[in-house]
Amino acid sequence: MSIPRTETRNGQKILLVDDKPFILLSGELHNSSSSTLEYMEPIWDKMQALHLNSLLFPVTWQQVEPVEGEFHFELVDGLIEQAKAHGMKFGILWFGAWKNAACSYAPAWVKTDIKRFPRAEVEKGLNFINVPFKFFPMPYTTLSAFSEETTKMDARAFSKLCAHLREYDTDHTVVLIQVENETGLLGAGRDHSDIADAAFAEKVPAELVEGLLARKDGLVPDVKEALEHCQEGSWEEVFGEAAEEMFMAYYTAKHIEAVAAAGKAEYPIPMYANCWLVQGGKPGEYPSGGPVYRVMELYQTAAPSLSWVAPDIYIPQYIDTCKKYTKQGNPLFIPEIALQFRATSRLMYAVGKYHAICFAPFGIEDIGKPADTSLGELVGMDVSDPALKNVLDPVVYGRVNELIGGMMPVLTSLYGTNDLQAVIEEDPEERTMKFGDMAVSGSFMPGLSAGAGALLAAKTAPDEYYLLGYDTIPSFTSLDPEKPFTEYLSIEEGEFIDGEWVMHRLLNGDEEHIRFGAPTLLRIRIHRYS
Ligand code: DGJ
Repeated sequence: MSIPRTETRNGQKILLVDDKPFILLSGELHNSSSSTLEYMEPIWDKMQALHLNSLLFPVTWQQVEPVEGEFHFELVDGLIEQAKAHGMKFGILWFGAWKNAACSYAPAWVKTDIKRFPRAEVEKGLNFINVPFKFFPMPYTTLSAFSEETTKMDARAFSKLCAHLREYDTDHTVVLIQVENETGLLGAGRDHSDIADAAFAEKVPAELVEGLLARKDGLVPDVKEALEHCQEGSWEEVFGEAAEEMFMAYYTAKHIEAVAAAGKAEYPIPMYANCWLVQGGKPGEYPSGGPVYRVMELYQTAAPSLSWVAPDIYIPQYIDTCKKYTKQGNPLFIPEIALQFRATSRLMYAVGKYHAICFAPFGIEDIGKPADTSLGELVGMDVSDPALKNVLDPVVYGRVNELIGGMMPVLTSLYGTNDLQAVIEEDPEERTMKFGDMAVSGSFMPGLSAGAGALLAAKTAPDEYYLLGYDTIPSFTSLDPEKPFTEYLSIEEGEFIDGEWVMHRLLNGDEEHIRFGAPTLLRIRIHRYS
């Protein structure tokens, strides 16, 4: 069996695990949960009961290399055994030089040698500042992206981890790796240390300009305009107002690339980078240089070892974020999203509309409790979102994962085609899906729905559809003028179990007027006539 890998089918990038398409129906754990096997033990049962097929959690530089040159993998081996015992897979989050734009996961021997591992200077001459957030100042320090030594040591530890996985993880329990976590610099557009200043005075590397020009169609307007105006010169000459972010992104991407490439040289499973989204006006108010959509083409150029960049979504603009992070062939991979009641419809939409590879609410072990907003803007969360107050019901969320999990072969066979679509209540602009000459619509009505409905439709044969609905009323409209009328031939309520369709009820009579409440899967055959 091949190691986990990506492939492009029907123009869509997908993940293959043991040679079969795999969607991570996942959750990301709190940062400290995977630091001991004891703490993890009860979590696995809970996650299995939710019908997740995978988890995302950190494996950290701090714990892998606590003393320089001494590498420890007992923890990761134990996590692999625990996952296997629960029939689950996981993705590793490599918390190396960066975690939330800071360096708290660097081992003590790195943190304590500031000469060898220099810090970024948000203000010239200062290794530490209080970043002025809205309500209070946040103590802040981070490693400089411009230090070759930091990159070398981070890459070495990561490559040891990957080499170990190659030898130990022969069942492919680890399906992919996130390299670093929410990189970038807070508090300023760029690092002002001497090494950063020297790099900023240099010319923009030609390989970057070429890479961006080759991907010109996706560039955000200000970067595109700047590049059309000037293609050679200093960062400020070429990129104008966008110079600091482009500069930081290039060197941050270079660091991630060096780490990812060193890991892939040992064990080339899929790797990606995640980001703290663009928030506030200027780079520095969100981490400057992280792999946000504004610099996606830059990351594709400077970090080719990454299979995609991924948004961590803690803002209410879900629909817009999905759009922004699927340009340039980037598949939708959501490693973190706020744990709130909309997760059910958002998962259905991510899979149905964007053919996503992963959907993972953050802090999933807290499902059933209100979203933790206590860290607020310190971690990029828009706490003004009223939806955060509505709790995600574990029964509802578990059921939708179970149904999607069963449907996975059907769904992934339609990835990249027009035969798999979805609408979501959150997007008032789109209520209808067109499958050639058939329109399938979802209505969302006050009363029936709590504002979190969705309808996913998969066409598997002429006039045969699987509908996965949650709080919605579906309808079919024939667009064929020769056969304008439709009626149901059969409506089966059921699910896929071990790859086989199992019918639980044949719906007719009163039940023919379909109203989805709890997540339910139907197989529908339609007759069209005139
Ligand atoms: C985003 C980070 O990537 C996570 O590790 C975690 O800190 C969350 N924010 C907290 O909400």
